[in-house]
Amino acid sequence: MKIQETIQQVAARLDSVDLCYGHGTDNPLDEAFYLIYGLLGIDFADEQAAQRELNVGEEAMLEAAVKRRIDERVPTAYLVGRAWFAGHEFYCDERALVPRSPLAELINGEFEPLLHEPAGKVLDICTGGGSIGIATALLWPDCEVDLADISPDALDLAKKNIALHGLGSRVRTIQSNLFDDIDSRYELILANPPYVPVQEYEELPAEFANEPSLGLISADNGLQIPLKILRDSVDYLSADGLLVMEVGYSHPQLSERIKQVPLLWLEFEQGGEGVLALTARQLQQYREQFN
Ligand SMILES: C[S@@+](CC[C@H](N)C(=O)[O-])C[C@H]1O[C@@H](n2cnc3c(N)ncnc32)[C@H](O)[C@@H]1O
Repeated sequence: MKIQETIQQVAARLDSVDLCYGHGTDNPLDEAFYLIYGLLGIDFADEQAAQRELNVGEEAMLEAAVKRRIDERVPTAYLVGRAWFAGHEFYCDERALVPRSPLAELINGEFEPLLHEPAGKVLDICTGGGSIGIATALLWPDCEVDLADISPDALDLAKKNIALHGLGSRVRTIQSNLFDDIDSRYELILANPPYVPVQEYEELPAEFANEPSLGLISADNGLQIPLKILRDSVDYLSADGLLVMEVGYSHPQLSERIKQVPLLWLEFEQGGEGVLALTARQLQQYREQFN
């Protein structure tokens, strides 16, 4: 069968079951395209490829992957081993979450209107596979970026991604429980930390159970880790530094918890919510509120 027909057939099979599309695509047809092209290593822009026939080995490989997508709800990014974030390709596997933050839009927009010039030193805290920090390093060729995470497994994946993009000279990994082992100051701290309350985690679609729970769950109704980052960031920012942090759909709870703080919630054209920005001065001014 030709790839073009196979895409339609796989899309119909995916559509016939109740899958969750929160990991890179939002519909069965795009998911089938991603799965097939990704698995076969075909360039997404290759317009000729759709006309070629799958060989027997490729059909068997695809069938095994479709079965895992349907039966085990494994996200396609893990099946393919690759994900795209802010227009860049990344290695992706079960050691870290599938990258999907709306911060990609901010990076592609060169952080306007928050910043008008490149930051010299950036920390991506809770970095996972490193996509946010690495995409920022690719945006700003002179910028040094530290990728920090508590998980050595996630950092091994981040190291693979640093190498993939040839960034070893200015992007490094730091294993750290939040800021415990950070000893620099940064002009920009980026964070997409865990923010899912335990009870909500248990109700998430099965796809999320394939991701490391360490990357999703945060105690105290999802707010424990975000509040610690809000409290401590100022000690690691330069005087005119900025924190940008995603708390996703936990943003109403956070706003409610720290009512006195004038939070700036960013708006995104390509979807996503719950990303805030606070300057070092604001973080200092409202520090008491984050306890
Ligand atoms: C939501 S994932 C985000 C990964 C990545 N930033 C992204 O956007 O794809 C959160 C990450 O925080 C890490 N993490 C969890 N608790 C942490 C802690 N106490 N200190 C540092 N990192 C932590 C997890 O290992 C996970 O990689």
